[in-house]
This record gives sequence, structure tokens and C-alpha cells, in this order.
Amino acid sequence: MSHWLIKNALLANEGREWEGDLRIVGDRIERIGSGLTARPGEQVLDAHGRWLLPGMIDDQVHFREPGLIHKGDLASESAAAVAGGITTIMDMPNTIPPTLDAAALEDKYRRAAGRCRANFGFYLGASNDNLDAIRTLDPKTAPGIKVFMGASTGNMLVDDPDTLDAIFREAPTPIITHCEDTPTIDALQAEAKARFGDDVPVSMHPDIRSREACLKSSRLAVSLAKKHGTRLHVLHISTADELALFESGPLLDRDGRLRKRITAETCIHFLHFAREDYARLGNFIKCNPAIKDASDRDALIAALANDVIDVLATDHAPHTLEEKQRPYLNAPSGLPLVQDALLAALELVHQGKLGLATVVQKFAHAPAQLFDVAHRGFLREGHFADLVLVDPDASHVISRDRVLSKCGWSPFEGARFTSRIAATFVNGELAWDGERLVNLPLGRRLEFAR
Ligand code: DOR
Repeated sequence: MSHWLIKNALLANEGREWEGDLRIVGDRIERIGSGLTARPGEQVLDAHGRWLLPGMIDDQVHFREPGLIHKGDLASESAAAVAGGITTIMDMPNTIPPTLDAAALEDKYRRAAGRCRANFGFYLGASNDNLDAIRTLDPKTAPGIKVFMGASTGNMLVDDPDTLDAIFREAPTPIITHCEDTPTIDALQAEAKARFGDDVPVSMHPDIRSREACLKSSRLAVSLAKKHGTRLHVLHISTADELALFESGPLLDRDGRLRKRITAETCIHFLHFAREDYARLGNFIKCNPAIKDASDRDALIAALANDVIDVLATDHAPHTLEEKQRPYLNAPSGLPLVQDALLAALELVHQGKLGLATVVQKFAHAPAQLFDVAHRGFLREGHFADLVLVDPDASHVISRDRVLSKCGWSPFEGARFTSRIAATFVNGELAWDGERLVNLPLGRRLEFAR
């Protein structure tokens, strides 16, 4: 049984920052206080000068299992996650086979048990013909239902208007959407091909996967949710234009209930990269939706600070180096991000662009609240001890040799980050000691308090 006393840390939680101590007994936070004295047999960690945060909850990852495990698997990608301070992941259904029914969902939970280093939940996917599986989904078995309202990796586009309407009407859990209008994209891609033939430059990606395509599809999702009163979470917002669709303000009302029926998420790469980076990074920052302009990046950062965007996630989507080195039209979309996302977000804190409290709110508290995750996402006595300890003064350059994701590369290679992940705890046990993975995989199946 785990017994830890973390002393003299700067704790950041629920909008407050203070210096204090935190005691772990077993898998839970037993006590948060100050001047706590060590008990016999307790391991003491002096965390002076370090930040102690709840472990991050990433509500959007593609860990590729089953079927695409040459890109990544639950073991490799969750190793990268805990090394990056992410202690809980929610994984997407665009695997092979896609996760379209309860049996496929349970198969993923079985695969993750004993192999996933972070706690795990799996989304049910939607298709044009699995309405029965959606209707009958037990809400305790999945964080939500993923609807690709735009085609991306995997062939999971839901474009039948009646089916979409029925999904929004009948889903028993939150719906989460990928919003990009496919006909708009197809037309823009055809225009680019007419101009460039097979050698369309990657710098066209934000013009093909355009802001209009995002806005049109996000607008449709929001209007369907308003029509049916659906709990909708729109994933990976990439443009300033879409922000007007969402209400600003806190997530919860005074009684601690969800105040917003429609919520929005953005991802770390939209806060870090912009159009000018295609010249340097090419397909290595090709993703869907596309990274757009510097003005979008700045608006998205402001929208997090102003509570228009509720959640920060990664959309971690590894592809091999070989796949990414193909010509633009044949290179798959997606970036590996879980290992560096918190460091990149904290860089915005160091730059004075986001508060530490905002990062903790958007990347730990909010996903727990949105998806009814039981007893995680906060530094609270009685909650699971999922924690990340950050050394905020450990400037270093990201290099390929430290990448744990199976794809073996990072879009952040060469970036200098001020912070380092000094330790990650999952369910009360050390999972990452600042240098290496420790202990066996400790991740558990998420429980949803609904
Ligand atoms: O860039 C992306 N990659 N966007 C998605 O929607 C899917 C993801 C993947 O699975 O590769």
C-alpha cells in the first residue's frame, strides 16, 4: 500500500495556489494541509519550488488499438501520457474495427486492463447505421458518443441528415463531435488538385481544410443540439470564427451543476503552431482540423482565458515517420502530443498568456466535470491520488531520443520548454519519476457518476 507525504509544494487547484503538503494513503489523497509530519514508513518527497497539480485528463486521444498498432498502442501511448503528466485518457473509436457497439467497447476495456498506465475511458463511435447501439448504450460504460461530422482518419463520417438528427435526439450520453464540412473540403481539394496536380503543397492544408468548413459544420452541430437539448461537446476548435457559437462563462452554476449544455474544446497544437510553421514542419503538423492562422491561435488562447472554450485536450494521433514523409495528399493527419502537451501549455503560463489556474481548470477539472468522471481531476481529500509534480525552472530542449510514443517523433522537437515533469502519480503510486517509467501499469477503468 502506497504511503507518500509530498511536502512544501505549490499546490494549484480550483483557482487557488498555496504552499502546502499532501498525503497519499493507498490510492487516495488522504490529507491536504501544511506542516504535516511524516509517519513511520511513509516516503517523503520534498517538493519545495515545484508545482503540484491534479493529473491532467485528456478527453481526446487516438491510441490506435486495435488494428493500427504499428502507429501506437495502449501501452506505448499511455507511457508517453504519464511521462507528460496526463493521468487519464479518453480514447477515440476510429480504430480497426471501429468501436461501434458495446462488444467492441468492452474489448477495448479488456485490452487496456493491466497495460494502460493512465486511467482510461473509451468512446462509442457513431456511424450512419448503428443507431440501436447508440440508443442502448449504458451511460456508465463510455464518456460519450463520438460523431465524425467530417471525414478524417478512418471512415466514420456520419452525413445522413436523418441519422444525425436521431443521434442528437436520442444519445444517452454527451455527444462529442468532429466538425468539418466534408463537401466543402472535397471541393477545395479538387480545386487544389486542378492547380497543382498530385503535388499539392502542405501549406494549402488550412485552405483546403478551411475555416468555412469548420464553421459550417460546428454551426450545424450547435443547431442540432439546441433543437434537441443535447449535451454537446465540440472537439478541437481551430478558428476564431467558431467562437461566436459558444457561450462564455463558468462551466458550473452555484449548486455545482453543469451550466452549459453546449461546450467547446481546443487542442494544444492550435495554441502553439500557426500557418507559418508549415514551411518548417510540413506534414508533421498536418492534422484535421488544420492548424490555421496566428490570429486564430491568439483568439483561441484568449477564449480559454475568457471561458468561451471549456476544455484543453491533445487529439494525440500518432502516425509513423514513414507515413508522415509521404507527399501531402498521401500523408495521414495527426500529431503525437500527450508527452509534451502539459509542458507546452505551461509555456503559455511562463509567457504570461494563460494563468496556471486556467490550465488546471481546462485540462483537469473541466473534463472531469463534463464527463461525470468520479473522484478524479481535483486535489481533494478522498479523491484518487492522480497527481503531477512540475519543476517550473528546468529549461530544456525537446529531443527525439526521449519520445515514448511508438511513432518515435514529436512536433515539438527543437522547442525549448521551461518546465519539466518531475513526477506523475496514478492511483496513489509513482508512475513517472522524472526520468523514467516506474511500477507496472496502474491505469484503471473510469467510472462515470451518472
Ligand atoms: O488529425 C487528425 N487525426 N484528426 C482526426 O480527426 C483523426 C486523427 C487520427 O486518428 O489520425
